[in-house]
Amino acid sequence: MCGIVGAVAQRNVVEILLEGLKRLEYRGYDSAGLAVLDDKGQTLSCVRAVGKVRKLVDAIDENPTRGKTGIAHTRWATHGVPSERNAHPHMSSEEFALVHNGIIENHDALRSQLINDGYRFDSDTDTEVVVHLIHQVMSAGQPDLLAAVQKIVPMLHGAYGLCVISTRDPETLVVARSGSPLVIGVGIGENFVASDPLALGQVTDRFIYLEEGDVAEVKRKSIRIFSDGKPVERKLTRIRSDLSEIEKGEYGHFMLKEIYEQGAVIKNTLNGRISANHVLEEAFGIKAKAIFDQVNNVQIVACGTSFHAGLITKYWLENIAKMPCQVDIASDYRYRNIIVRPGTLFVTISQSGETADTLAALRYAAELGYVGTLAICNVATSSLVRESDFSLLTMAGREIGVASTKAFTTQLCALLLLSLVLGRRNGMDETTEAGYVKDLHKLPELVEQVLSLDKAIQELSISFADKHHALFLGRGNQYPVAKEGALKLKEISYIHAEAYPAGELKHGPLALVDDKMPVIAVAPNDELLGKLKGNLAEVSARGGKLFVFADESGGFDDEGDYKLIRMPPVPDVLAPILYTIPLQLLSYHVAILKGTDVDHPRNLAKSVTVE
Ligand code: M6R
Repeated sequence: MCGIVGAVAQRNVVEILLEGLKRLEYRGYDSAGLAVLDDKGQTLSCVRAVGKVRKLVDAIDENPTRGKTGIAHTRWATHGVPSERNAHPHMSSEEFALVHNGIIENHDALRSQLINDGYRFDSDTDTEVVVHLIHQVMSAGQPDLLAAVQKIVPMLHGAYGLCVISTRDPETLVVARSGSPLVIGVGIGENFVASDPLALGQVTDRFIYLEEGDVAEVKRKSIRIFSDGKPVERKLTRIRSDLSEIEKGEYGHFMLKEIYEQGAVIKNTLNGRISANHVLEEAFGIKAKAIFDQVNNVQIVACGTSFHAGLITKYWLENIAKMPCQVDIASDYRYRNIIVRPGTLFVTISQSGETADTLAALRYAAELGYVGTLAICNVATSSLVRESDFSLLTMAGREIGVASTKAFTTQLCALLLLSLVLGRRNGMDETTEAGYVKDLHKLPELVEQVLSLDKAIQELSISFADKHHALFLGRGNQYPVAKEGALKLKEISYIHAEAYPAGELKHGPLALVDDKMPVIAVAPNDELLGKLKGNLAEVSARGGKLFVFADESGGFDDEGDYKLIRMPPVPDVLAPILYTIPLQLLSYHVAILKGTDVDHPRNLAKSVTVE
């Protein structure tokens, strides 16, 4: 997704901007660009390139540019194809340059109006209208850039985080936030802006988060923030920049590194939240008790992998907490006529906490009469966490691979804690809780045991490298695990993969099965294993190539007409977490064989901040 970096300093800022863009690369993008004011502040130069930041660096090497005030951007196309002319920054009359994250929904109307007023457009983007509007109001007599931006933001419908510079007001960055995150990085005699503090870790650890509707003027030695036209103070936060999080270390890809980190980050997520035999409800924060007191039903909303975590939680809430639970995809939920039962807790799940659909669903839910809103999220400073009544953070550390892995398994841990807390409140006895908590204590070690299957899974991946389709089967709470396995495979290897609850096979998808169709079964020894085996027999009978993930007690042996990956025995309650991991490894190795860009799969972004 798009990224913004800006700097105003007494030194040349080009290197700072490029380093910032590199640090944002993990978010996904298709083009990049940069604009700087020359040292006298009289000339704006702009360089843009399609593809990786490396291409932009090459373009700047060919045409060296420097300046002490500048802005830069990585773009992920929404309006207009990825191309140099659509890449940001966008310019107006060589005097203004602007970068923008988000979508301007009324850009058509604004564009027609500006064309009538004599403006010429150089791109197909929704963004370009904004820079011309600023030019227009300054040309009509607005004294400074800040005043011009304050004047035009009410004209914009949609979501934006934007940053603009101009020869008419040099040594100044003006930023505005509405629906797309922005931070100001505070330096000494120099200041910065970015859509993510990570971009500025090399120059500062002091940040000011802008709030919805804020407009700010950032100069070398001053920062002024306004809300509704009035000056406001925003808190200064220190954020430690941990480079190990954004380096691959010994691993070839961030995805593999993040798969291998799962034992450690699960431990971090459980740390301080469970005692020897029960879950510490206080981990949910001071507001939690009053809200939990009223809860008798749960509504979960999320997207993608986080949605799959929600689907698994439904089984836990029903089985452990004896509580009803509904799970919805955020992009649909927000457009439904939702009927809220009294006593319903609204839970969002998100790695980034900035997913536009999930945030919009939370904002929609605020009006619907839920007893409270809880965010299960990996980013403490995210919009989702800040806008929810309370949150339980996953401690996955920064996840850079676009394909979500450690964020998912830590989400499941947090959601299992929620299920246990609600279960205890709903009458679960102490011994039962103690049994689950004992299992949780074993989880990090079990993760390591599953990871030791990596070599065998790598060998297995060879059978998939020439395939165009794959079917994933599971029953009960293993169906969402199968869905997550299929999502991982399609996302990074581009193999078409579908997941089915195995009992549904004979109602349609069985027609797809022949000797060219690999069928992956997640088959822990739970109460549905017998049923699953019946479904797998239907696959074998049609010549389907079966790959079974099961433990020794499941009755599968090496002689069967399937390929067996022998899982360690795991407690039932943990099976969804542990059976996900071999599927992550499988998709990783298949993608490697197929030669795809594992960490940045085509067409995808890490954080989807547009609808
Ligand atoms: O940051 P979020 O958890 O809200 O993101 C939701 C989805 O965009 C995300 O899980 C996506 O499906 C991943 N690429 C899956 O690997």
